[in-house]
Amino acid sequence: MEYFVHDTAVIDAGCQIGKGTKIWHFSHIMTDSIIGENCNIGQNVVVSPGVVLGNNVKVQNNVSIYTGVTCHDDVFLGPSCVFTNITNPRSAINRRGQYAKTEVGKGASIGANATIVCGHDIGNFAFVGAGAVVTKHVPAYALVVGNPARQVGWMSEYGHKLLFDKNSESICPESGEKYILTNNTVIKVNV
Ligand SMILES: CC(C)(COP(=O)(O)OP(=O)(O)OC[C@H]1O[C@@H](n2cnc3c(N)ncnc32)[C@H](O)[C@@H]1OP(=O)(O)O)[C@@H](O)C(=O)NCCC(=O)NCCS
Repeated sequence: MEYFVHDTAVIDAGCQIGKGTKIWHFSHIMTDSIIGENCNIGQNVVVSPGVVLGNNVKVQNNVSIYTGVTCHDDVFLGPSCVFTNITNPRSAINRRGQYAKTEVGKGASIGANATIVCGHDIGNFAFVGAGAVVTKHVPAYALVVGNPARQVGWMSEYGHKLLFDKNSESICPESGEKYILTNNTVIKVNV
């Protein structure tokens, strides 16, 4: 086996799990889910049927990733963050098969205890602050905090706030990479 599964974890039939991935205590990987390479699935995590996780996805403890959620490569899911997949659940009404989709873009981070109300995508490298409640799409590189989550800035791929100068340019203090803000959209410039 090219991946690690702790003795207490449960892996259902029909899952695909990539090389180098680690699945820790009491986690449950459900049928037909796909987990990429070099992922870390922490303690007490549920990956529901049909969920797709890319490569190098890090899932901290106590996260349930419900059917309808897709996380692209390098996504970070903070401890106890919450996904949802039905907007208007009622116990007596069966809405199985009507799950809203949530896509978490490459390199995005979701802070501890944040809640993503379903049907809202998180853009590439976006950053959702701890405890935020996301009720709208989050643009690529955006930093959002609070309940309801509001955009308070932009974050670099290395996770630093981007402060744009009069030319709408910003340099990440860690990577030295340059970003440009145009029409309320951030792009990284390859120099
Ligand atoms: C959002 C975040 C990245 C901002 O970090 P930062 O730039 O260092 O922020 P600061 O501490 O300088 O705070 C700036 C302001 O934002 C507020 N703020 C910071 N984080 C916030 C959050 N999650 N929700 C609401 N407001 C927040 C601060 O209170 C402060 O407000 P003020 O200017 O009115 O005093 C960080 O606070 C955060 O939530 N990180 C996620 C941590 C996490 O969940 N990690 C999981 C792995 S263990």
